[in-house]
Amino acid sequence: MSQAKRVLLAIETSCDETAVAILRGFDEVLAHEIYSQAEIHSEFGGVVPEVASRNHLATAPLVLDRALEKAGLRISALDAIAATTGPGLAPALLVGASIAKGLAIGASKPFLAVNHIEGHLLSPFFGQEKIPPHTAMVVSGGHTLLLDIESFGRGRLLGRTLDDAAGEAFDKGAKLLGLGYPGGVRIDELAKSGDPNRYEFPRGMAHSGDFDFSFSGLKTSLRVFLEKNRPSENDLPDICASFQAAIVDVLLEKLFRAAQSNDRQLAALSGGVSANSALRAKATTEAARLGIELKFPPAGLLTDNALMIAFAAAHRLANGMTHSVTEEISPNFSPASLFR
Ligand code: KG4
Ligand code: ZN
Repeated sequence: MSQAKRVLLAIETSCDETAVAILRGFDEVLAHEIYSQAEIHSEFGGVVPEVASRNHLATAPLVLDRALEKAGLRISALDAIAATTGPGLAPALLVGASIAKGLAIGASKPFLAVNHIEGHLLSPFFGQEKIPPHTAMVVSGGHTLLLDIESFGRGRLLGRTLDDAAGEAFDKGAKLLGLGYPGGVRIDELAKSGDPNRYEFPRGMAHSGDFDFSFSGLKTSLRVFLEKNRPSENDLPDICASFQAAIVDVLLEKLFRAAQSNDRQLAALSGGVSANSALRAKATTEAARLGIELKFPPAGLLTDNALMIAFAAAHRLANGMTHSVTEEISPNFSPASLFR
């Protein structure tokens, strides 16, 4: 069988999505199943690791069966089995990784350990066999990373958040505004009818001259603003739009400055926050003004999913990488894990 046509099954359980995907080659989606636990965790105001783990354990076999059924395949027909092994919540990662290892051992298939961030990072290029040189920004609930990418497995970290991630800023802001968890989408929706210039929120580290970020000051300023002003329900859209603009402005200023200073003509955004409509609109305008091509992940690959993990696994496999079933999970992110 040609290398490009190998069939991979991937399991993703790093946070609160239980997901299984089956991919043939780099672009043929045979299954793309996601079960979200968000509703279960919303009553706690955030993801509770043990609750996530227990739910993955109960749900993953069902999601796995559904994926195999959709693909019309048996496990024996797969060429390799992949799982996210980090970064993420340790008790949650253990479930998906253990299932994938069990399947790999039972069916005598190669096992692939996949980095969750690599999944997001490659997702704008889904379907492509070659990853082009570009400036990448991964903005998720857990991470805010700016990277210069040469090709698959080659590149360097330019900057990252020093405290809260961009998605975390959205979620914590939403919590302060009483909008529930996860709040990024709610802020995005409310902001659509709001005025982003009505309130002034701080653009953390916008002029620091480097490519790092800080969002914890923004969260504090929203808290202080709410305590002082006690705004009414009618002010909510303007507050959301103004708060969102503070996040979007800093992200994009650094993304495009990084692209220009590294002479890149292509920039790619990924991770849950790349679904944000204000971020997409402003990035599109700014990219056109600067003559930089812009890429986003396709719909369905923005927030956590297993298809991006299968795609990253396909690249790993094409580069001759498989892993021992003794491979450990890596709950913490290390930039070195993305580069070889
Ligand atoms: O990539 P992801 O699904 O999970 C992690 O790997 O963390 O990202 C989830 C994050 C959450 O913080 C969520 O609030 C945020 O992405 N998010 C958004 C939007 N959709 C999801 N933030 C702002 N606007 C959105 N439309
Ligand atoms: Zn993610």
